[in-house]
Amino acid sequence: MKILITGVAGFIGFHLANKLFSKNFELLGIDNINSYYDLDLKKSRLKNLKHKISFYHIDIVNKNALKKFFQEHKPNLIIHLAAQAGVRYSINNPEQYISNNIVGFFNVLQCCKEFNCKKIIYASSSSVYGKKLKHKSKEIDDVNKPLNLYASSKVSNELMAHSFGQLIGLKSIGLRFFTVYGPWGRPDMSYYIFTKNILEGKKINVFGHGEMWRDFTYIDDIVNAIQKIVKVSDNIMFPKGTYSRIFNIGNNKPEKLMTLVNLIQKTLNIKAKINYLDYQIGDTIRTSANINELRSMINFVPKTTLNFGIPKFIDWYRNYHKINSL
Ligand SMILES: NC(=O)c1ccc[n+]([C@@H]2O[C@H](COP(=O)([O-])OP(=O)(O)OC[C@H]3O[C@@H](n4cnc5c(N)ncnc54)[C@H](O)[C@@H]3O)[C@@H](O)[C@H]2O)c1
Repeated sequence: MKILITGVAGFIGFHLANKLFSKNFELLGIDNINSYYDLDLKKSRLKNLKHKISFYHIDIVNKNALKKFFQEHKPNLIIHLAAQAGVRYSINNPEQYISNNIVGFFNVLQCCKEFNCKKIIYASSSSVYGKKLKHKSKEIDDVNKPLNLYASSKVSNELMAHSFGQLIGLKSIGLRFFTVYGPWGRPDMSYYIFTKNILEGKKINVFGHGEMWRDFTYIDDIVNAIQKIVKVSDNIMFPKGTYSRIFNIGNNKPEKLMTLVNLIQKTLNIKAKINYLDYQIGDTIRTSANINELRSMINFVPKTTLNFGIPKFIDWYRNYHKINSL
């Protein structure tokens, strides 16, 4: 089987390529290596993947380049992770989300159609649930009230994937990721920024006065689950007359933002200087995944607690940035 991972220089793509690397698959990866965050981090990830994947520097917004790639390589399964990520960045840079996430995804779907690729697994997000506060979000919940353009782009992806199923029978699995963290993680995410600033003696901004909850999900739990989905991808059941399914993929245990801050302080053994601020426009107050659907399909049981995962991240951070522990 030839598997194409889009966004392979990204955080999740990198870990997934490492996980799927085996004699059973031919792994292809594409990425436009954009400068949304530290380019050296993306290049180091790619260096690490050398000999494991065939890498192509392609922008999915460039329809012709993507078509040429599909024509040449004819992948059988797409794992689509390339996107403009980040909720806060979407407030001032909305056009990036329309081009990379909507036009880019459309181009990938069109290539599946033209070059007869029958299956796609793609990244959606917990942010589709909007302003959920109390209960655990279920896949059947309303996703018609996204709070920001990042979330709208992910809802649009789910709708587009469904339409391609109806039109050409393309089988799609959408994965609503819940705050993924871990080694080689994204420098725009809170756990990374907090660690960096605390180590550098700078203040950290804690929004919502710390009154936010996230269902932090460790990267190994995510890629283990995707590997299992790939294995069963030929046998997945779809509701009658449809070809698309959507799954939450979260830790099933939301944690308060201040629990994260305290754990980072404790692991670093440094007291943080904290700037408590109001909620920012577009913020979701609480994310919390009901994971029963994925549990019943692949027996998904996330194993990693924040207490285990954050020190793992900090070990990597010190190593990667060559910072000695005290
Ligand atoms: N990390 C999380 O917590 C999280 C949560 C919810 C959803 N997601 C989704 O999961 C996917 C992967 O996220 P990530 O955390 O690895 O993000 P990431 O930013 O590290 O990875 C995305 C990669 O896609 C590439 N890319 C962006 N636009 C492209 C384009 N036009 N053409 C080719 N490549 C392009 C980027 O260069 C980057 O390497 C994204 O779709 C993201 O929206 C992530």
